[in-house]
Amino acid sequence: MLGGLLLASACVTVAYTELCRPDAENAFKVRLSIKTALGDNAYRWDATEEYLFKAMVAFAMKRSSSQEATEISNVLLCNVTERISFWFVVIDSSTNTTVPKEDVEAAIRLNRNRINSAFLLDDSTLQFLHISTTLAPPIEPSVPTWLIVFGVVLCLVVVGIVFLVTSGIRQHKRHNKEHEETEGLEEKCETTITMENGIPCDTLDLKAGHINGVYTAAEDERFAPL
Ligand SMILES: *[C@@H]1O[C@H](CO)[C@@H](O)[C@H](O)[C@H]1NC(C)=O
Ligand SMILES: *[C@@H]1O[C@H](CO)[C@@H](O)[C@H](O)[C@H]1NC(C)=O
Repeated sequence: MLGGLLLASACVTVAYTELCRPDAENAFKVRLSIKTALGDNAYRWDATEEYLFKAMVAFAMKRSSSQEATEISNVLLCNVTERISFWFVVIDSSTNTTVPKEDVEAAIRLNRNRINSAFLLDDSTLQFLHISTTLAPPIEPSVPTWLIVFGVVLCLVVVGIVFLVTSGIRQHKRHNKEHEETEGLEEKCETTITMENGIPCDTLDLKAGHINGVYTAAEDERFAPL
């Protein structure tokens, strides 16, 4: 009976371990630099640490809604090397297949800080290869609050300056208009006078060459009836 159970569990283990191998579908590589991070306080990577790692991954999976049923035994480690690196997969026990890469990735990302602190490491000394850490740090607003306040104040100041300048210009213009109004009347009279000749002053002044033409034409007309 016990033998049978052991054999069955061994079979399960064998069946499962086939799912965990380097570059397998939905497998992730992890690299740890415990010595780099902790120096003399570095701990030895052993089966207990592996157990903690499996537990942390299971914890991350349980916290994500799609894989709440994940147990520690569903997390498999393989190809653990001396200078510590290994691969892991998460098994979905309802289908006996590996959990899709995207689900594991999302769970790890969301719980990155918890996993890091469990091993006293950070993103550079506990590396999940192929899982970027872009979402790991707490998301700060892209524009700091002080900058927003500063921007609003600056805008108000600019609007104020523009208002003052334009109102000043408008007032100045109105002032000038009142001055010019009398002069304008005189100018109107002058233009009517010059137009009486049939030749505006402008054309006489600017197109001097044409003046002769106009005069000769007038002379021709004068002589025509004769
Ligand atoms: C991974 O481990 C398995 C079994 O221990 C071994 O057969 C395989 O060669 C290893 N692969 C790599 C890339 O180390
Ligand atoms: C998963 O595998 C175990 C052992 O091989 C088996 O007992 C179980 O029925 C399987 N579950 C599914 C859903 O295939």
